[in-house]
Amino acid sequence: MPESAGGCFVAGGTNGNLSSLVVAREEFRKKNPGTLKRLAILCSDQTHSSVKSTALVMDCEVIVVATADSYQLTPELIENELREHSKTYESLDIFAVVATAGTTNLGVIDDINGISDFAKKNKIWLHVDGAYGGAGLLSDNVKDLFNGVENADSFIVDPHKWLFAPLDCAAVIYRDKSLAAEVHAQKASYLDILHDDEEGDNPSDYAFHLSRRARGLPLWFSLSVYGVEAYRNAVESSLNIASYASGVIKESSHLSLLIEPTLSIVAFERIGWDWSDYKSWSKKQLKKQICFVVPSSVRGKPVLRFAFVNPGTTEAIVDEILLSLK
Ligand SMILES: Cc1ncc(COP(=O)(O)O)c(C=O)c1O
Repeated sequence: MPESAGGCFVAGGTNGNLSSLVVAREEFRKKNPGTLKRLAILCSDQTHSSVKSTALVMDCEVIVVATADSYQLTPELIENELREHSKTYESLDIFAVVATAGTTNLGVIDDINGISDFAKKNKIWLHVDGAYGGAGLLSDNVKDLFNGVENADSFIVDPHKWLFAPLDCAAVIYRDKSLAAEVHAQKASYLDILHDDEEGDNPSDYAFHLSRRARGLPLWFSLSVYGVEAYRNAVESSLNIASYASGVIKESSHLSLLIEPTLSIVAFERIGWDWSDYKSWSKKQLKKQICFVVPSSVRGKPVLRFAFVNPGTTEAIVDEILLSLK
């Protein structure tokens, strides 16, 4: 990202998405004064629920593009959706597109490069939600899947997810932080004195917040002590254990893998089980303090979902859990 980039820490990915998309909307309004159409955000059916909540707070629409069997948002899918429903969408002005870099349910990375071209062509904001998966950028094995992220107008990653920081710590980064400050800096007479002699950044100005604790400090401290390489190794170990788990699942006749894992999420079915079977197994595992694996659903079908983020998870633990599903 260029020199102009910067941001701050916020409480969670939800606030990061909201803060980014509010800046996106104000940019659109600045460039399109006088537009009377309702505003809309483009995203996919795999986008995190916080984007819909954001739209509700912002009183704007969401255009949800259905992803195909790959669960990945692509520019082709976006263009098809807009073409097929052009009548419905002609009353809307789209001001942003959200690409997810590691979907919550399946860990899929959208075609960020393609979506970034689409955003550029249509002069709209590109927001990349890497709340969970952004940490994958540390791994040489998967970082190319994030190509195009360098074109994001805003990007979020949550250290409290796969970067091992204690709650609550999410990072929001803008390509041009001054745009965020124009929108989020609060002007009040009692604050002016604080800004008068200020030099450098004021993280208050870059998100929808004001008073806050130094929530980036534990991340900075840990990074300083352990170094980036330790983080890279920890992320790699999650990727490796996800790949191990998917291999065992494919070999097991009582289990069925939903899709090959891209990052550290592995979704699979226990053949013959319904929602209540998944639920009672999950509760029992938690009660026995073996694992916290909750069922999820994909297109209405219940599945189990491993989300590996702990570098201490061993193959023996995975074996034990999978065996308990027999
Ligand atoms: C992709 C993505 N975006 C946003 C969020 C919301 O993050 P938070 O719970 O920190 O608000 C999540 C949470 O899982 C997520 O996976």
